[in-house]
Amino acid sequence: MGTTPDQEKAVSVFSDMTTLYPPLYITVAIFDGIITDIGKDSEVRERNPDVKAETTIDAKGLSIIPGLVDAHTHPVWAGDRVHEFAMKLAGATYMDVHKAGGGIHYTVEHTRKASEEDLYASFKDRLQAMCNAGTTLVECKSGYGLDVATEVKMLRVIERAKREMAIGVSSTYCGAHAVPKDSTAEEATRDVLEKQIPEIQRLMADDILHVDNIDVFCERGVFDVEQSRSILEKGKELGLTINFHGDELHPTGSAEMGAEIGALAISHLEEISDAGMSAMAASGSVGVVLPTTAYILRLKPPPVRQMIESGMAVALGSDFNPNAYCLAMPIVMHLACVILRMSMPETLNAATINAAYALNVSDKHGSLEVGKYGNFVVLDTDRWENLIYKFGSYTDVVKNVIYMGQIVHSKDDQKVTKVKQI
Ligand code: NIG
Ligand code: FE
Repeated sequence: MGTTPDQEKAVSVFSDMTTLYPPLYITVAIFDGIITDIGKDSEVRERNPDVKAETTIDAKGLSIIPGLVDAHTHPVWAGDRVHEFAMKLAGATYMDVHKAGGGIHYTVEHTRKASEEDLYASFKDRLQAMCNAGTTLVECKSGYGLDVATEVKMLRVIERAKREMAIGVSSTYCGAHAVPKDSTAEEATRDVLEKQIPEIQRLMADDILHVDNIDVFCERGVFDVEQSRSILEKGKELGLTINFHGDELHPTGSAEMGAEIGALAISHLEEISDAGMSAMAASGSVGVVLPTTAYILRLKPPPVRQMIESGMAVALGSDFNPNAYCLAMPIVMHLACVILRMSMPETLNAATINAAYALNVSDKHGSLEVGKYGNFVVLDTDRWENLIYKFGSYTDVVKNVIYMGQIVHSKDDQKVTKVKQI
């Protein structure tokens, strides 16, 4: 479906689908992975009289939504941190664990030792799980290497998924994710500026890597605002989009700095100031909020209502990482409703078009429109809100995931077969 040059067969008409409530029967026509028509079933058929669909999904009485976009993840790593969860439940803060040599340091130790093949194998499974939960585009960061060799290894793993997996991938270099154990923040900043970025630039020029964004962890005790600024600006010179971690655990003025240097997105923002919100609203920088992290670390949630009122665009990410192990955007959307006080339509917007915008690809992802990729999710319900409401049961609600016109996940294929009783 969708890839043959044979016009007769290549256009796929999905008939009798319902869109957002209240139901309206619509058809999405896709050719070569791109939406070529969308609208009322009768009108699409009238406009395309000679087209015979190669594949048709009958979604009568069901709902469809655009493919979900996960705007912030750390999905390439070895060594989980399940042991640290108990420590945090017992009261240790994120920074207590980090300063004691755990947290990101623990993951760095294991990721440095892991082979590229092993990293790819676990990454691939994680991407598939994200896809099964409705995600069709995911931002993927490096950042568990903190040295040239491992950062490049991680970026190569992400690059391979871009080529081989049926899911959209936006790749982010995050070499300044933590200060390596044997180093100071100044030394680490120099390493990023003088060794890591030049090597990445070389690999990009040789067409080996295609990195999209640059990230740093701008935080008290990690990289300060000026160190972060110098790294982000250097990335911008390479043509990378600025998209970084800021104002998470302490108010640092990350939002103000990011707005000043033209960041397209800043993540976390639990501690954003009023001035930071105004600056981001004025610069058009998207606030990527991560409810799983606020929930797991029992942080004060980011002030999303105030962000929206101040005119900021808000996007959602799972922040999948060994601290916050959540691969499913429907769970993220549920937490966003309850903890961040977003409405369900706001979370859908934040997990589709705004997230795509934060990744600089809203021309192709994030909504069902002619000219964009044929990425969408068929829900086994006449009310799309069940995807959020049925907390923990999203696997029952997601019927099919379609990526560039191809069915990449079907709930019906995953049925557990009954075992014969003895
Ligand atoms: O976004 N805050 C920094 N980075 C990640 C956590 C990464 C980790 O703990 O491994 C975050 O939450
Ligand atoms: Fe993060």
